[in-house]
Amino acid sequence: MKRYHLTTFGCQMNEHDSERMKGMLESLGYREAPGREEADLILFNTCSIRESADNRFVAHLGEAKRLKTENPERVVGVGGCWSQSMKERVFERFPFVDVAFGPGQIPKLAEFLTSDSLTAQGYFEFEGFSGHLPMKRTREFQGWVQISVGCNCRCAYCIVPSTRGREVSRPPDELVAEVERLAADGVREVTLLGQNVNSYGRDLRGEGRASFAELLARVDAVEGIDRIRYTSPHPKDMREDVVRAHAELGALCEHIHLPLQSGSSRILKAMRRTYDRGRYLDRVALIREHVPDCALTTDIIVGFPGETEADFEDTLAVVEEVGYDSAFTFVFSPRRETEAAELKGQLSHAVKRERMDRLVEAVQRRASERAQRFVGRTMEVLVEGPSRKDPDRLRGRTRHNKTVHFAAEPGAAPAPGELAEVEIVSATSTTLAGEAKMLAAAR
Ligand code: 5AD
Ligand code: SF4
Repeated sequence: MKRYHLTTFGCQMNEHDSERMKGMLESLGYREAPGREEADLILFNTCSIRESADNRFVAHLGEAKRLKTENPERVVGVGGCWSQSMKERVFERFPFVDVAFGPGQIPKLAEFLTSDSLTAQGYFEFEGFSGHLPMKRTREFQGWVQISVGCNCRCAYCIVPSTRGREVSRPPDELVAEVERLAADGVREVTLLGQNVNSYGRDLRGEGRASFAELLARVDAVEGIDRIRYTSPHPKDMREDVVRAHAELGALCEHIHLPLQSGSSRILKAMRRTYDRGRYLDRVALIREHVPDCALTTDIIVGFPGETEADFEDTLAVVEEVGYDSAFTFVFSPRRETEAAELKGQLSHAVKRERMDRLVEAVQRRASERAQRFVGRTMEVLVEGPSRKDPDRLRGRTRHNKTVHFAAEPGAAPAPGELAEVEIVSATSTTLAGEAKMLAAAR
């Protein structure tokens, strides 16, 4: 029996692609090895979003090289976005790699493994979905569903349009059937994945067409699905029907991730985000009007080329005004073959760092203030398992996507995958703490 070892970098999309890779390998008779040393097939699913992602992966590749030298029969494979962005250059830089493939080419890995090919192979076409592949889920009760691939945006900083291609939506009937299968298999929470989820459906034609809001309603109607999440939407496509869905659909969680990127209209224009500060804040107002308690999270980039102190202060002002429940903050990193990498006005590392520190301070302070609204409330928590820091306590997540560490009566502790009612007793910027009241009824 052959054994594989897979390391995943990057976003949830990549984690989900890895579930498909694992499912496919297991259907070919491979089993998972505990470490690279024990593996006949060493695989990496890579990311290229920022330079740090590249560097992390290249450091791991060194070990694969050593193991391959020890035993040349071993196969080394590199999939995902970094691979796609390098194409054949993967083999020039790392001659010990046997197979390289882009995110859309997972099935080609099986083709390679079952052929008698002795030469290195690269597969970098954009082709359909891996949706029909079997998958090996990381968590029994949580599932990802890829609703579209690719992205038609042209954000000046982003490598993704070149690594994942043009946007293609999967037909809604196929998606609903997949969610039904997941529900029958014990999944209670689904996360709909796409590079730009809320532009879903625009490319579909004919009878089987659905908008993103319609798709949400159809997924909500699937028996057994208690929670629906999605990531990531684009503010330009955040329509009222989707916002209303958060108020109207029982399973759709009270959490919206709305990537800001910058609070300066001038920088947003240079980023080609196609909204300005005013339109972004209008979306926030619309969300707050329909779903007052909705958690809002975001992505922000500091140090985009040409960003002045005044532009950065505009970003800080939006952070103060919105009061995000949390935010992912990134230092701008020039990526190969993107427009922003060539722009004049690249900022020094020192300026980027200084702005990042101020941004993180504002984000955390506001998140901590916002989190206090949960103290004293009893909240529904989907239990994930024991708390990592304190094994006597449990860990789970609220519908607002806050992590909760909580105590439960010995003997009456809810199991992973169950919904518990937890009274929140304290809150920090990132986590809540509480005590379990009882098991919540399924929706
Ligand atoms: N530099 C820094 N951050 C980036 N992101 C995307 N590309 C870059 C880049 N070149 C951030 C954006 C995006 C998130 C996934 O990563 O904020 O929303
Ligand atoms: Fe995900 Fe983007 Fe990284 Fe690809 S480059 S793995 S799409 S974050």
